[in-house]
Amino acid sequence: MSSLSKELHQHAVEARKKSYSPYSKFQVGAAVKFQGEDKIYSGCNIENSSYGGCICAERVAILKGLSELGEKKIEQILVVTGSPKGDNPCGLCLQTINEFSTTNTEILIANLNSVQSSGKVSEFLPNSFDSSNLP
Ligand code: THU
Repeated sequence: MSSLSKELHQHAVEARKKSYSPYSKFQVGAAVKFQGEDKIYSGCNIENSSYGGCICAERVAILKGLSELGEKKIEQILVVTGSPKGDNPCGLCLQTINEFSTTNTEILIANLNSVQSSGKVSEFLPNSFDSSNLP
């Protein structure tokens, strides 16, 4: 793993320990590096007894960063789960990632030990709806 992906992995694994997931028991951690910023932002999934109030780790991490920094593009985002091959971000998270991405933004999928796969946002969310669709 590159030194950036190692750092993202460490932050995401640490954030995952804070996961509040009493309903699914599925713990997720995420870490984001924004363009031009040194600080890594991380998050975990936080569930709610009203299930629609659950929020994913990726969006917690992204929104923490954006609410502090203002609009920024994502350089890399890493998501970690306990599954052997890791797990892809959900559609809602991909839509949020896409909104704050460039063509170079990378998504890294990790298990608890290391990154298992990676790709550009367009590989995860081809034919996306974005600002270019609006009149
Ligand atoms: N979850 C995430 O945190 N990220 C995703 O991309 C997919 C799902 C969370 C939401 C919920 O707390 C649990 O995983 C099960 O869906």
